[in-house]
Amino acid sequence: MAISKTFPFAYIRKKVCKIEDAVVPIQAKAIQYGLGCFSGIRGFWNEKQKNLYLFRLEDHFKRFQESAKITGMQLEMDYKKFEKIIMELLMKNKVKGDVYIRPVLYSGSTQLTPRFDNEDDDVAIYMISLQEYFKEGTGLNVCISSWRRFDDDVFSVKAKMTGAYASSALAKTDAIKNGYDEPIFLNRDGKVCEASGANIFGVKDGVVWTPPLSSNILNGITRRSLIEICKYLDIEVREENFDRSMFYTFDEAFLSGTAAKVTPIYSVDHRTIGSGKEGPISKKISEFYSKAAYNDMKEFSKWCKPVY
Ligand SMILES: Cc1ncc(COP(=O)(O)O)c(C=O)c1O
Repeated sequence: MAISKTFPFAYIRKKVCKIEDAVVPIQAKAIQYGLGCFSGIRGFWNEKQKNLYLFRLEDHFKRFQESAKITGMQLEMDYKKFEKIIMELLMKNKVKGDVYIRPVLYSGSTQLTPRFDNEDDDVAIYMISLQEYFKEGTGLNVCISSWRRFDDDVFSVKAKMTGAYASSALAKTDAIKNGYDEPIFLNRDGKVCEASGANIFGVKDGVVWTPPLSSNILNGITRRSLIEICKYLDIEVREENFDRSMFYTFDEAFLSGTAAKVTPIYSVDHRTIGSGKEGPISKKISEFYSKAAYNDMKEFSKWCKPVY
């Protein structure tokens, strides 16, 4: 992962403060039980236009709101307020480059009972100068994790809950220790599901495959964007389940996510995917996504919220 710098100002308890002051007590349920939900938003700096563009900010807020609703946490903020705080923070931090923004609705309650409907739910926001999440300029060697993705009747997969990432961390730690870059979860039905923090796509005979929302995946905003881009580019997309054997025989495969962007997969369980390099369809989609994200694609400027 590229080295990232944390910006000096954050937001917590309804105020902007120095990042070192954005702290919560150790008794907080956010720490003790992982009670919270979060979002991850990218801003892309367009050097030619000298402007920063936030990618699908309102859609990120909607998912943040839905996560709060699923858990029963109190998000006492509407979109306008959310946008205002983020804009103010970007200005205060003088952000003039690619940025990753992390809002978290955390449970600040210090009572012992593990329940979501507490007082003291609070929004905190910080930002870092993230470039590439994975190694730059290369693809991933992934493995099928021995950890399964949880079903929605075990733990919500549609709410982006902080505690849920313990599952991602288990799979990721084992994958790295075993010499891979990233784990791929199967769901309870044995179908390919998603990565530790990204959705998955495959390409077979010119058709793009991605697991459906019903297969216990996060409703990724990048995933949604790529599906729209494929439609625009006249590339057929199938939102259908596929199993591990089919994954092994894809011509191309890639991950998608706010942090991951579009990252090619070179191999899975030591089986080379296609030529073992980024495939032509993946490249086309990735380049288009990048142009759209930097607001260099008029047709998709609706996704880009200018900061300056
Ligand atoms: C488990 C998981 N799946 C998928 C994604 C991709 O979602 P998005 O494109 O909205 O960042 C993420 C990242 O947030 C994630 O954590």
